[in-house]
Amino acid sequence: MPLDPECRRCPLCSGRTQVVPPSGDLRSKVALVGEAPGAQEDQLGRPFVGRAGRTLDKLMAEAGLDREKVMITNTVKCRPPENRRPTGEEASSCRPHLAEDLKEKTFVIALGLSAAEGLLGRKLVMSEVANRTFDVELDGHELKVMVTYHPSACIYRPQAKDVLRDALRAAVAHL
Ligand code: URA
Repeated sequence: MPLDPECRRCPLCSGRTQVVPPSGDLRSKVALVGEAPGAQEDQLGRPFVGRAGRTLDKLMAEAGLDREKVMITNTVKCRPPENRRPTGEEASSCRPHLAEDLKEKTFVIALGLSAAEGLLGRKLVMSEVANRTFDVELDGHELKVMVTYHPSACIYRPQAKDVLRDALRAAVAHL
């Protein structure tokens, strides 16, 4: 389902400044999926342009992954109030948009548990699944999903940073 800038499919529409569409190369075979727009993303209309985005940019550069060569998107396209985690209902309402984003992708990096649980459809423990790849069927389309840490989880955790950097490096081979 194409993203509607006036979307009212879930209650997140009432608190957002704008719907935040995917950015980067929309035709890339590789996508990075985060959780939800934060305050700066909500203001600027682009995913990962705030603090987590700066961490992501730095790790992508270190991994040799060019931000303009991948698609970057989120599980939900509107900012949740107080930056809380999106609910299961909100993620389900936004799923047709995520399915649209990912319909031609072959390799997806799920940044954090919201993205990973949304794509795999079950509860996960990050320490058990970090940097594992899963075969996922999304709207009849097969793709590989590598689960890893969200950049925000890395801000004070060098170990998580190393794991996320390795995942980003793995994506380079799929471009
Ligand atoms: N965190 C996310 O998951 N996505 C963004 O776009 C920004 C921060």
